Amino acid sequence: MRKISMMIGALALGVAVAAQAAAPAQTIEARQKSLKEMGKAMKGAGDSFKSGNPDAAVIKASAATVAGYADKLGTWFPKGTGAEAGVKTAAKAEIWSDQAGFKKAAADFSAAAKGFKTAADSGDLAAAGKAMGALGGTCKGCHEKFKNKD
Ligand code: HEC
Repeated sequence: MRKISMMIGALALGVAVAAQAAAPAQTIEARQKSLKEMGKAMKGAGDSFKSGNPDAAVIKASAATVAGYADKLGTWFPKGTGAEAGVKTAAKAEIWSDQAGFKKAAADFSAAAKGFKTAADSGDLAAAGKAMGALGGTCKGCHEKFKNKD
């Protein structure tokens, strides 16, 4: 009896360890999915502007998608979700060695994403185009410092 209960205990421990080990990979996959969605939204709005006949509805929807992540992006990189997690990630170690820099990049993005939404919601396409340019600069700024090239 004692042996069996010990075995069950060991089994339960094994399951708990496995669940913990899976978490960083899940965090990485979830953030990559959201980042891809954000990339698509930016491309959708960018293409609309470039078409020469921008569609305010498309731009508004894209801005809403990106602004939905404004305060989330900064939380997608907990410790342990870098290269050490053992799954493919372009996240650089500098995210964790320069936390102040990363937090600032996330805060700049957050403010710019909200600015883009406000401008897009106003229907002023010139203002929305300008705000989107500023937002794109924050994507690029963070990628240059904290993301490996594919
Ligand atoms: C504060 C930093 C930061 C900001 C701001 C940021 N990104 Fe990223 N982005 C990253 C990092 C780090 C990765 C790599 C994530 C990984 O592979 O785990 C990434 C990855 C991506 C990817 C690739 C996802 C994949 O796995 O295929 C896309 C697309 C992307 N970002 C788009 C954007 C767009 C568009 C913006 C701006 C609207 C933006 N990002 C703003 C840090 C940032």
